[in-house]
Amino acid sequence: MIQDEIRKLKEEQGAVILAHNYQIPEVQDIADFVGDSLELAIKAKEATADVLIFCGVEFMAETAKILNPSRKVILPVENAGCPLADCLTPEMVREARARHPDAAVVLYVNSTIESKAEADITCTSANAVEVVRSLAEETVLFGPDANLAHYVAAQVPEKMVIPLPEGGHCPVHRKYTLADVEAGHARGDAVVCHPECDPAIQEASDLIASTGGMARQAHLHQNWTVLTEEGMAYRLGRLFPDRTFHAVEGVVCEDMKRTTLEDVLRALETGEYEVTIDDEVAARARTAIERMIALRG
Ligand code: 13P
Ligand code: SF4
Repeated sequence: MIQDEIRKLKEEQGAVILAHNYQIPEVQDIADFVGDSLELAIKAKEATADVLIFCGVEFMAETAKILNPSRKVILPVENAGCPLADCLTPEMVREARARHPDAAVVLYVNSTIESKAEADITCTSANAVEVVRSLAEETVLFGPDANLAHYVAAQVPEKMVIPLPEGGHCPVHRKYTLADVEAGHARGDAVVCHPECDPAIQEASDLIASTGGMARQAHLHQNWTVLTEEGMAYRLGRLFPDRTFHAVEGVVCEDMKRTTLEDVLRALETGEYEVTIDDEVAARARTAIERMIALRG
């Protein structure tokens, strides 16, 4: 069985497999740890294994490398990107900073490493509110997800939150409609949505949470409609087998779904594709990422 080959090689090499909540079920099942962006970043930082096989997308594997540079971080597929991350360039961050010299720049980890190098601090959807509240600056340039910026602005009304760019969004979460929320309520479900969903979906839902937040709060109801990438419903079902989690069929992140068990095995056999980051960019991005991590208690 391919799972046995993966386990054998993993042990021989002193490797651990980290997987995001959106990965395919087989990859979640073989992983040593499954979690949201923040949980994975913390696991990567604390990892003592020589090799981290990171089943997710580029920005997550890069964050892992930044937080634990002496480990070999491997993304089993090439070009597993994130269209949301790609909609913000470092030039756009520099221009916005020039227009708002008194503002702090907060970048969602779903951004390129070059853009993070321009940020004061990063955040994930799990800690965005905490990060923005922690800042001394009254004005915050927040990118690249305008829906998460909307969510943060509502939770932290004392700050002026300016989305950067205007209208930055995840094309996967953009697919949910109010009809999905209504269908969930008609079934008698509680509806949880990710803060990357449009504001109208956020307002109609019963709970707004990061994927890790969904796992922590799933005990609150028996039946849920889960408005985030369908891998999360599988993850929740594994954690709470006595509860029901409905996903909206067909709302899939193609980049997250690219990694297969064959890719994981090949990554262990060949060491491909190792994450490398330019030293100067890494040093600047590290300051912003470490500042976020330092906020944890
Ligand atoms: P989480 O940090 O909530 O896992 O979200 C990551 C992501 O890419 C959402 O689309
Ligand atoms: Fe990027 Fe959206 Fe995929 Fe998350 S779901 S990795 S934000 S494209």
